[in-house]
Order: sequence, then C-alpha cells, then structure tokens
Amino acid sequence: MLVSTSEWWRSAVIYQVYPRSFADADGDGVGDVDGIRAHLGHLRDLGVDAIWMSPWYPSPMADAGYDVADFRDIDPVFGTLAKAEALIEEAHSVGIRLIVDIVPNHISSEHPWFKAALASPDAPERDYFWFRPGKGANGDEMPTNWRGEFGGTTWTRTPDGLWYLHLFTPEQPDLNWDHPDVRAEFESILRFWFDRGVDGIRIDSAALLFKDKTLPEVREGEPHPFHDLDEVHDVYRAWRRVADEYAGDRALIGEVWMPEVERFANYLRPDELHAAFNFDFLGCAWEPRLMRECVDRTLDAHRAVGAPATWVLSNHDVTRHVTRYGRLDTTFSFDNNLDGTTVDLSLGTRRARAAALLSLSLPGGTYIYQGEELGLWENENIPPESYQDPMWARRGHSRDGCRVPLPWSADEPPFGFSSGDPWLPQPPEWKDLTASAQTGDPNSMLELYRAAIARRRLEDGLHRPAMAWLDLGPEVLAYTRGDRFACVINMSGSPIPLPDHETTLLASGPLDGDRLPQDTAVWLRLTA
Ligand code: GLC
Repeated sequence: MLVSTSEWWRSAVIYQVYPRSFADADGDGVGDVDGIRAHLGHLRDLGVDAIWMSPWYPSPMADAGYDVADFRDIDPVFGTLAKAEALIEEAHSVGIRLIVDIVPNHISSEHPWFKAALASPDAPERDYFWFRPGKGANGDEMPTNWRGEFGGTTWTRTPDGLWYLHLFTPEQPDLNWDHPDVRAEFESILRFWFDRGVDGIRIDSAALLFKDKTLPEVREGEPHPFHDLDEVHDVYRAWRRVADEYAGDRALIGEVWMPEVERFANYLRPDELHAAFNFDFLGCAWEPRLMRECVDRTLDAHRAVGAPATWVLSNHDVTRHVTRYGRLDTTFSFDNNLDGTTVDLSLGTRRARAAALLSLSLPGGTYIYQGEELGLWENENIPPESYQDPMWARRGHSRDGCRVPLPWSADEPPFGFSSGDPWLPQPPEWKDLTASAQTGDPNSMLELYRAAIARRRLEDGLHRPAMAWLDLGPEVLAYTRGDRFACVINMSGSPIPLPDHETTLLASGPLDGDRLPQDTAVWLRLTA
C-alpha cells in the first residue's frame, strides 16, 4: 500500500508514461493500457513514486491524443475504462501513484461540443469556443495574425463565414474559459478522475487558457493577448479547492512554459497548483555557471511561494537529452532547431548519466520521461514520410524522434515492444539498450537509475528543502543536502580531486583513483 499520504509531491520521482510508445499488448503496433499493466514491474523495480500518464482518452489523434474527444473514457487503441481503473488499482498495490493528463485549453474538433457548435450558428455550444467574424470587406481575413504554438496560423473559417480560434492545430479548437459551463465541465472531469482514485492531474498548456477579448495583435512591450493572462489563476484556485476536497493529497502539476520565473511562480502560490515543470532547467546548457544560476533562480522563485521545485530533463515534446548533451549547442528551445547537427552520443550518454545524479539530488520533485532510464537517444533517422507529429508541417521540426517505442528485449526491432510493427521505427542500435540487456549490468543506465532512486529513498536529506553549494571551483557543481550527503559534478575539461569523504555512495562513471573525471557525477558521504 502507499507509504505516506502527506505532501508526497514535494520530493516524488514521477515517471512519464507516453502510452503510445510504452508497451503494446495487442499487437497493433501502438502501446496500450494492458502493455503498461504487463510492465508495471519495471516501474516498481525502478522505484518511482508515481506515473504521469500522457492522454489516453478517445481522440482522432490529430496531436497524438492532445486532441481529446471525451475526457471520461479511454481510446479503444489504448483499451477501456475498466482497464484503466484496473491499472490505477494495480499501480497503487505496488506503491505507485497515478497522475492523469488534462488538456483544458482546447478539445478535439470531434468532441460533441464542437460538433454541435459547427452544426448551427445558433447552437449554445458556439459560446464555448472563439467564433469571430473575419476582417476585410468580405470577412475573409483572419481576425488576428497570431502565430500558433506549433507555428502557422490560428484561425480556421467555417462554412457559415465565421472563424474559430485554435492556438494549436485546426483539430484543436480553443475553449472559451470565460464561459461558466466550460469551468463547470472541467471541475466535473477532475472529480471523475479523482473519484477513480487518481493521485494528481498534469495540466496541459496551463498558461494559455484566457485570451484578450479585444483580440489585439502580439506586440513587443505590450501584454501578450493569450499567454499568462491573470484570470487563469482563478481557475486553478477553483481546481485546488476540488483537489483539496479529496483525501490523500491529490496534486495539480502545471505545464507552464514561462520565461519570467516570477510569473511562473504565481501558479504555485499556496492556493493554486502544487508544482509545475521546470523548463528553464530542461533548456539549460551543459555549462556550470549557467546550470548553477538556473538552480539558484529556480530555488529562489519556489521558496518565495513555498512550492517544491521540479527537475525535468526530457519529455514527449523535446529532443532527448542524451542527444542534446552530445551536441555542440546543448541548449533546447523550439525556436532554435538543431535537428541533424553533429552529435556525439557517447559524450551525451556520459553527461546524461551525470545529469541523472544531478536531477535526482536537487531539492524537489524529479521527472523521468520513459526511456530516459534506458539512455535512449533521439531517433533522428525517421523518414519524414513516417512523421505523425503535426508540428512537423508547421515548424519543420518533428517531436516523433523522442516518441519512439521503448525497447524491452531481444536483439532487433520491435524489441519486445509489440508483436506487430511499431508505429514509429526503432533504431537497430538500441539492441544494447533494451531493459533486459541492461538489467544486472552494473554499468548500464538502467542500473544507475535504479541505484540512484533507491539511494534517494534512503537519504532523508534529499527529502528536505535544504541545500548548500560547496565551492570546488567555477567548473564544478557541488552541493550538500542533509547529513553530509554531497553531489559533485565535474563539468570542467579534466579530472578534479574529490572533497574529503567517508564513502562514495554512487558514481555516474568510473573514478580516476580519487579523482572525478570530466562529465562525471558522484554522490558522497562527506567526512564528519
Ligand atoms: C502540450 C503537450 C504537447 C501538445 C500541446 C497541445 O504542450 O505537451 O504534446 O502538443 O500541449 O495540447
């Protein structure tokens, strides 16, 4: 049974399951709920506290399930509601909580609300969306020139001449959050899942819900018409009240992409969300000064509102960090497309190992994106005709390379993922990265993650907020947590001496005598 119910989200290790690509039990090449159930042992042995499940609801899959047609059911490609309920129960029985993904900014164009809205100009459902007349003499110019979140335009004209807003694809019409029915519906959806025992909600595109009704253009120096409008906080206060009605500390975790860290922290005030993804850290270069500044900036902002920080290296939207850290430019941003640039995968893997010890020992919660524990890299060799991501057509970048099905076993694709053809091709080189090939190999990424998470559980200091920097020079990140626990990461170009210590608890790679090689991290028990 679950170990503790008090504020578990403050220092949890949360594993993101991307259901299409985790494990396929029925052989159609797409992962499913039964596949996840069959591999729960992997997550139990890894030692994670919770699973965040990317959307599994009925969907036409215009955006891989982030276009939801019914929030109260499961897409047949993934299974049934009964199977989802069984998974929640089975996860709980091995001590793993489950977080579902709710997408409040938009729904699928196949959702009954949007179908009703399109069917008649007088339908009350029209007000649940952003239908507006166009500009120009014939109304054939879009109401605004807003650029979509995937690139491209944000309005589509309907047969009766009006336009509707979609910050993502035309198949994802934006909801009108000024309408009370929209608010009521989502509170009811939260209850639907909380009633089924889920432990938290990941909130998609959490800062986009409100739009300036006067529809101004986006202009430098002026308030943004659809990013981070103040009204959004009222919605999350209401959601918090719903979450607080339930026993067991149900958590709300926001996807908030926000360059200004103070604005970001507003979402984490005590009566709003419990946590939010730290994309500042995810996008940060593998560079000691920048990393240290990022950690300080993160901790200061969270301290101010009493919320736990989060440490995120990868997810289903971004280039896998083994690949990022193996490039010359190690940053990530959607506006800086580095696809196909030279990558040194062994350097990237070495740094990813060190980054695991970093992200698992900083104060707060740590997120693991499925496959990160296997050291998977971005598959940059998918033929463009196989791309399914709608971002590809709009931005010339596809997120499919990080969504490739997991390799579980065997020497060649589909590596035990499926008995059929995986929906995206797996690199044959992953034969050394399957879960079964890595199990028991003390040098594998998988065993490193298992050992680090197991150690994290034992270290009381890692579950408290305190952290102090150790000064080992400008090229080294080093800090203590709790009772003489220290993490040291050498980001310089040559080995460094380790501080006085009693024991080496864990190392991301072989030590050079008593010296720490470059791009290597170590967890130490310092001398008393
Ligand atoms: C979020 C999701 C992403 C999706 C988008 C639209 O950013 O993480 O995968 O495409 O929202 O829902």
